[in-house]
Amino acid sequence: MFSIGIITASDKGSRGEREDLSGKVIAEMLAEFGEVKHYVVVPDEREALCEAMINMADNLKIDLILTTGGTGLGPRDVTPEATLDVIDRQVPGIPEVMRAKSLEKTSRAMLSRAVAGLRGRTLIINLPGSPKGVRECLEFILPALGHGLEIMK
Ligand code: MTE
Repeated sequence: MFSIGIITASDKGSRGEREDLSGKVIAEMLAEFGEVKHYVVVPDEREALCEAMINMADNLKIDLILTTGGTGLGPRDVTPEATLDVIDRQVPGIPEVMRAKSLEKTSRAMLSRAVAGLRGRTLIINLPGSPKGVRECLEFILPALGHGLEIMK
């Protein structure tokens, strides 16, 4: 079992104005795979996102951090930039697969700027914001995720 952290990037969610359904989908889909140790909803702000990722990776020693939201083209979509700020090495195959497979479902998949990478022994993966996008992207990457986490140890 791996330890999992979930970060929902949402201005409305952070103000309590929107229920975070996507965070719930992540927790449900990963229930048999690991334990959600930490879960936060933060505004779409680079600094707040960086802080949340650094805290989960360095202090809480979480194995896998999944972010949801803030990967698109909106002026406040900064999750990929925050992730690139904190990771040491990129894992490009993960977003490559998410976009390639998602394009078979919606052409809008090309609008996600999601990245994935390692901060020490923590793998950080950006997912889109919608529950549907989260569900689809997780289905595509789950088959290889266990092996990836094993070899990081
Ligand atoms: N990927 C999948 N598999 N399914 C989806 O519905 N939505 C897309 C895309 N990726 C989607 C998807 C849309 S509409 C957008 S705008 C981008 O993800 C970015 O979403 P975000 O800004 O909520 O992160």
